[in-house]
Amino acid sequence: MAESMDTITSVREMNEWARLQIPGRKTIALVPTMGYLHDGHLSLVKKARLENDTVVASVFVNPTQFGRNEDLSVYPRDPQGDSAKLEAAGVDVLFMPDAQELYGPDYETFVDLERLSLPLCGKSRPGHFRGVATVVLKLFNIVQPTRAYFGSKDYQQLQVIKKMVRDLNVNVRIIGCPTVREQDGLAMSSRNTYLTPEQRKQAICLYEALMLAGRLFATRESDPNTYLQAMKDRVLAEPDARPDYISLVNPETLEDLTTVNDSALAVLAIRIGKTRLIDNMLLAESADINQ
Ligand code: PAF
Repeated sequence: MAESMDTITSVREMNEWARLQIPGRKTIALVPTMGYLHDGHLSLVKKARLENDTVVASVFVNPTQFGRNEDLSVYPRDPQGDSAKLEAAGVDVLFMPDAQELYGPDYETFVDLERLSLPLCGKSRPGHFRGVATVVLKLFNIVQPTRAYFGSKDYQQLQVIKKMVRDLNVNVRIIGCPTVREQDGLAMSSRNTYLTPEQRKQAICLYEALMLAGRLFATRESDPNTYLQAMKDRVLAEPDARPDYISLVNPETLEDLTTVNDSALAVLAIRIGKTRLIDNMLLAESADINQ
């Protein structure tokens, strides 16, 4: 019978658990999450389970990555449901600290990426990636994972974390995993639950705009403006959709492209009513268009 999952809430205990894994040279996977888990998160756990001896998942709604007017206080939470899903998915340890445990009253140290955190979501959510990089580095230090798993829906986040690991020589392998989508193509996100049924219908415009970009890439269109106009027109066809950004960028540097050659990242953030949704599609000869 599979062993039951342990739940750890203190940093000291989590660290002690990690220290005890060293002599057996077991590989440790970390799947960091903010909870309210859906099939996208569970696909990360599944991959982590296949590739490692032990799997740790963290559930922590990280206050430092939310701006003052963002949705921290209403961010959906379901600790019991999350715990049941993670245990069923074969997670060994659930790390679920509270905010005081990670950020004491005298907390003052942050990780800042000076370039990669500025465009796209960094522009409309100043400080967001500072909070993400900081909490992810803290989790790496506490859990000491061999590999850590992140979804590609948060493409900029994935690039930020990869770069932080390289720049700061953190000894962990970052594994990016494909975006998991609803049947109609909407990328799974905990924030989808904010949508009314009418807004949920309109939210398909993100995926359909990306598919239009994919089709233009297949015709070898080289002018970024042609892509941007097509995506914008599709989004604005929905009455409640307002673009935060719609961009075509270099997949490595996230800088705007002036011409489209071998590869590009089509990426967008759209507000549907009060809900801000993001999605992206890697356009490349060998890329899986559905990611
Ligand atoms: O992607 C998320 O859920 C969060 O940004 C992460 C990586 C768990 C850090 O809080």
